[in-house]
Amino acid sequence: MYLLTGVLAFVAAVFNVVHELRIHDGSLAVTVVNLAALGGLGVAAWRAVGERREYRRQREAAVARARESDAALQRLLEQLPCSVAAIDHTFTVRRVNSQVALMTGFATEAVLDHKCFTLFGPGRVCDGCPVERALATGRVQQNVKQEKTADGRELFIEQTAIPMVSEDGDIRQVLEIVFDATRKTTLERENRAMFVQTVEALANLIDSRDTATGRHSVAVRDIALGIGRELSLPADVLEEISIAALLHDIGKIGVPEDILNKPGRLTEEEYAVIRRHAEIGHNTLAVVKPLAKIAAYILAHHERFDGSGYPHGRRGEEIPLAARILCVADVYEAITADRIYRPAMSVPEAERIMREGRGSMFDPAVLDAFLAHVGRRSGEAAAGRFAGTRWQGE
Ligand SMILES: [Fe+2]
Repeated sequence: MYLLTGVLAFVAAVFNVVHELRIHDGSLAVTVVNLAALGGLGVAAWRAVGERREYRRQREAAVARARESDAALQRLLEQLPCSVAAIDHTFTVRRVNSQVALMTGFATEAVLDHKCFTLFGPGRVCDGCPVERALATGRVQQNVKQEKTADGRELFIEQTAIPMVSEDGDIRQVLEIVFDATRKTTLERENRAMFVQTVEALANLIDSRDTATGRHSVAVRDIALGIGRELSLPADVLEEISIAALLHDIGKIGVPEDILNKPGRLTEEEYAVIRRHAEIGHNTLAVVKPLAKIAAYILAHHERFDGSGYPHGRRGEEIPLAARILCVADVYEAITADRIYRPAMSVPEAERIMREGRGSMFDPAVLDAFLAHVGRRSGEAAAGRFAGTRWQGE
């Protein structure tokens, strides 16, 4: 073909073909066809055909390579011991491995091309959705949550959402990797429950030695938690306060019973022995590493805001917030409960005493939170929400 068009071009370069045409009125029209131009067109047309074939070949090769790398990626995803889903910006699932079906009980076809939250969520984007955060921030996001499988089993899952950023900086999809953390979470919960029950058993032991106070530690915990909630403290701090309140008098185990339950006034020496319970409690718990913070709170629960407390005479914010809360809860519970050496004070009288200690014995902010808590509690009781119940410390 190249040879033919070459010959044509050569001929055309030498000869212009003259052609006569008789038109309808009988006159002659003469046309000159330049064969060189025709030859050039032929070459161009042949080249275009060749280029199209080459383009098609390259495109087919590229498609084959893409298919192979896609299959290789899927084989890789199938090797992973966790669920993997690629989710686009509309929360539509575009790719999954077979672990998704095994973990959730939903068939792969039921998941692919569906919005993830219609299967696993509440029908809208889940609260704290790591995919949504990864799309918004372009950074890896993590989350732990509980969800139900297709057959109604409860699952605890650990999600990691990895944004897949293209060369031009767009986030095309998010790769969500999900581990089944049900067993781990169940064990953690069981351990936590065992820890709390052990602490409560210790609190009962502490309270049982002080015959007059009965459930003092539990009552202090309830009041301290009420104050903490008024102050909008986070859940982990509330949990520390709860444990510290239950164990705040653990050091009294080291105080002889005849001093602890002495009906009359204590001598200076006896009072000094009682005061040691803050340090004994601290030293007992400080050796348990996870309880080091709790031990510090217990050490300071008899410190006073103006520095007149014990054992170290710390003042103001030198005293940990949890200890300032314990101080308020401890004093209020003590004066509103019967003691072997005096009867319980009435609630209005106790509140008056507490107000008097604002800024001297007690942190003003903590005392205000305490008063708000007590006021709220009285309001709820007056409204009959807790009809028939008796408040701790009342
Ligand atoms: Fe105490």
